[in-house]
Amino acid sequence: MEFAITKNPNPVPQAEREAIIENPTFGTHLTDHQVVVVWEKDKGWHSAEVIPYGPIMMDPSSAVLHYGQEIFEGIKAYRHEDGSIWTFRPEENAKRLQRSAKRMALPELPIDVFVDSLKHLISVDGAWVPKPEGEKTLYFRPFEIAAENFLGVRAAHRAEYRVIASPVGPYFTGGIKPVSIWIALNSSRAGKHGTGEAKTGGNYAASLLAQGEGYEQGCSQVMFLDAETATFIEELGGMNLFFVYKDGSVATPSLDGTILRGITRDSVITLLQDAGHRVEERKITLDEVRKGITSGEIVEVFACGTAAVITPVGTFKSTQEEIVVAGNEAGPVTIAMRQELTGIQYGIVPDRHNWMLKLAD
Ligand code: PLP
Ligand code: COI
Repeated sequence: MEFAITKNPNPVPQAEREAIIENPTFGTHLTDHQVVVVWEKDKGWHSAEVIPYGPIMMDPSSAVLHYGQEIFEGIKAYRHEDGSIWTFRPEENAKRLQRSAKRMALPELPIDVFVDSLKHLISVDGAWVPKPEGEKTLYFRPFEIAAENFLGVRAAHRAEYRVIASPVGPYFTGGIKPVSIWIALNSSRAGKHGTGEAKTGGNYAASLLAQGEGYEQGCSQVMFLDAETATFIEELGGMNLFFVYKDGSVATPSLDGTILRGITRDSVITLLQDAGHRVEERKITLDEVRKGITSGEIVEVFACGTAAVITPVGTFKSTQEEIVVAGNEAGPVTIAMRQELTGIQYGIVPDRHNWMLKLAD
């Protein structure tokens, strides 16, 4: 698919852009351009373009505004020391966007169009990718929306895929300081045969009430349990979880349809195995974690995701209890995984698994 490129006649002035990327905060500034590709039921995908960043002209009857047919991705561009710009496992994000599309009755974007869309956006907005110091990156937000003007309830016959991008620093500004997690006891994110595995806006809307409670209690993320029994740990509002045991083995909740298939999760499993850890993907109860932390059997807990990278968890809190993980400090496995993963992403650790793709020289 060919992309038509229309340069923004009024880009952010260079000095202003440089000040922004020197000190970016998550998601507050957007670059000068966006990608748009249109899909129509009778025509398929067409009209791929890079256009100036700006508002979407939308009819108030547009389907996404009423029935929430929306999916998205999160993926970063990393600048290496030699100035080149790279991304991490983009085909995995493309495949997940396809799986999310299928679940939400949206059209599946071809994998090569997804990867090309990132390359084309970088071809005009490459100057927005920060220097690597301080774990700065350019965060791409690819998304798909139902864009048909029609109030009937059925899968839309017109959709748009777009990509916007924002220079970001670490999601948690405290660096490798452990975060506190609020345990949602009266609020579920996803149920059996629901949309938990899709990266769709509604899952995040469903998480916000509990997240708000968590913020009030000084917690920066919320942890969801299974909707049926509130027994098994699933994931955080925007990250997957890992538990490190005293004997060096590591466990993470298995993917049973209600959890997002994190690409960081998958990569960390590989890196842990490379380092000789036994990794179990299985059901993990809150009770096991409570007892394991208290007895010293569980020595580290960390969360991971594109935005969060790898972040130690220091405390779990709920209306009923407070559980502090091993002295509320980042442990050695967490630190080693974070260094190795970011090392691969920034090109300073060998990319043994061929995860990196160059977007621009
Ligand atoms: N779980 C949820 C709910 C998320 O939103 C994310 C972030 O994308 C993740 C897990 C981690 O996924 P990934 O590592 O692919 O970014
Ligand atoms: C990401 O990591 O890309 C996410 O979508 C999670 C969210 C907390 C921004």
